[in-house]
Amino acid sequence: MTTTAQTPATPGHRMRTVRFESFGDPSVLGVADVAVPEPESGQLTVDVQYAGVNFAEVMFRRGQFPVDLPHFPGLEAVGTVRAVGGDVTGFEVGDRVAALTLGGGGNAEVVAVGAEHVVRLDGDLAGLDGAVAAGALCNVTTALGVLTSAGRLAKGETVVVLAAAGGVGTAAAQLARSLGAATVIGVTSSPAKAAYARAYGYDSVVSYDELEREVAERTGGAGADLVLDSVGGAFRSSVTGLLAAFGRHVIFGNAAAEDVTFEGNHPWYTNSSLAGYNLGGVAGRAPALLRAHLEQALTEVAKGAVRVDVTVLPLQDVTRAHELLETRASTGKYVLDVRN
Ligand SMILES: NC(=O)c1ccc[n+]([C@@H]2O[C@H](COP(=O)([O-])OP(=O)(O)OC[C@H]3O[C@@H](n4cnc5c(N)ncnc54)[C@H](OP(=O)(O)O)[C@@H]3O)[C@@H](O)[C@H]2O)c1
Repeated sequence: MTTTAQTPATPGHRMRTVRFESFGDPSVLGVADVAVPEPESGQLTVDVQYAGVNFAEVMFRRGQFPVDLPHFPGLEAVGTVRAVGGDVTGFEVGDRVAALTLGGGGNAEVVAVGAEHVVRLDGDLAGLDGAVAAGALCNVTTALGVLTSAGRLAKGETVVVLAAAGGVGTAAAQLARSLGAATVIGVTSSPAKAAYARAYGYDSVVSYDELEREVAERTGGAGADLVLDSVGGAFRSSVTGLLAAFGRHVIFGNAAAEDVTFEGNHPWYTNSSLAGYNLGGVAGRAPALLRAHLEQALTEVAKGAVRVDVTVLPLQDVTRAHELLETRASTGKYVLDVRN
């Protein structure tokens, strides 16, 4: 490992990080004192100011995905470059940056991240608020990938967004509109969340029970062209019935922690497509596309085309953020102020 430049080390090279050592409810989360990471070749370390909290981290914490223990959560961070590893060009210590920390560790005072997932907040991005940028990284990038690469959205189409009031949902509604969708219908679990979501560009926001009628009315019975499904559960089985001929059902999450089974003949019998999107998978298999979507996402937010509503909490309130997400009490995005 070669470190070409580094800010003065913090006393004792220690830092605070969110950590869990066993799977379970939000009480397994804690703030631990650990050694500051050093950048490996191809990496930067970032002195983090703001770090987003994602539903994916709820799933990691519950043990819904196999992650090693102890686990250090955090898939996105904004701050300044602390140290630049070998074979990294284009970054200097002190640069203000936003980073997708897909290996985890973003909910910490310092994170090590591959330089390919780091964007300098300069030029058109210079005015981007740090907390907003942290809240945009995963959610807006995902919304863009789900609508375009997986969902193949075309102008004039009807889009349904489940979990409409959430981080990805509010971004997806705005992007669907700007990408040319004619009708965008949101679905959420409470009237209060529906009222919140309506400000994000939906033509209507309804409950899960009301969706079938709403789609029929809005499309004259033709059905929706695209349904964005991060919810899973029994509702997933009903999505095909909402689709127009050749409609697309994009699956990119499973908040209900309950999946369903489709037979291989299902798309054939129903004239529909099942598609999927996974941010980590795109990073591994189509890194240039991920980078393009990441930059486009931040640009859309910087120019005001996508509004990200962030609630900023101190680092130790990460437990509260998980509770709100998990109990369906959340709206918008939760971002940790790591220095607070
Ligand atoms: N595939 C990827 O690469 C990728 C990347 C980012 C996010 N995601 C997924 O996209 C979704 C949105 O992520 P986010 O961070 O923005 O979260 P979020 O939408 O802010 O919060 C999750 C939402 O899921 C809905 N939900 C439905 N059933 C639920 C249940 N049984 N328990 C809890 N929530 C339930 C809730 O909305 P309602 O109450 O309105 O239903 C809840 O607010 C998540 O499922 C996440 O895993 C996937």
